[in-house]
Amino acid sequence: MVRMLVSAEELQARIDELAAVVAADYADKHPVLICVLKGAVFFIADLTRRLPFDLEIEFMAVSSYGQSSESSGVVRILKDLDTDIEGRHVLIVEDIIDSGLTLQYLTKSLRTRNPASLEICTLLSKPSRRTAELECRYTGFEIPNEFVVGYGLDHAEKYRNLPYLGVVDGGADGGSCGSIFAQ
Ligand code: IMP
Ligand code: MG
Repeated sequence: MVRMLVSAEELQARIDELAAVVAADYADKHPVLICVLKGAVFFIADLTRRLPFDLEIEFMAVSSYGQSSESSGVVRILKDLDTDIEGRHVLIVEDIIDSGLTLQYLTKSLRTRNPASLEICTLLSKPSRRTAELECRYTGFEIPNEFVVGYGLDHAEKYRNLPYLGVVDGGADGGSCGSIFAQ
């Protein structure tokens, strides 16, 4: 069973607000927005379609959890940027910050490439779970310590295609996407 946490409409309304702030900050900067695969794909697609100026979209893949729902603290870059970010204004677009370990590693690594600026925009944050020091400029929703799925977020690669954010009750392996899509 998936319990709805944030509806599709609430997601879109909050992304409207976030995009307005990001647009004001980056209008003349020709920023590079980095999508952290795979969870942030829906978010970056909706965010960037609300930014009415030139920008570039890049993708990175990092390993963190694997099949487990606990961060191992070990982060590896599986897919790197296709472009040089030296002197560029860079905005990392992430689905969720949990412990913060993934982004702490990623920001450290990207800073060594000398971007003009480097900020983070995350759709979701679980502040109670944070163990790493991390400055995040833009946050969509602060959520309680529950494992969420949908709108790009998965559990063992399932549920990404739900149009809303939900919490899997009674074990994340119990349900199937088809039976809950219409909720
Ligand atoms: P962190 O390194 O602990 O901050 O973990 C960040 C990554 O873990 C995110 O980019 C997600 O891919 C994954 N993650 C953390 N919490 C959740 C969740 O509740 N649902 C789905 N994925 C999550
Ligand atoms: Mg994930």
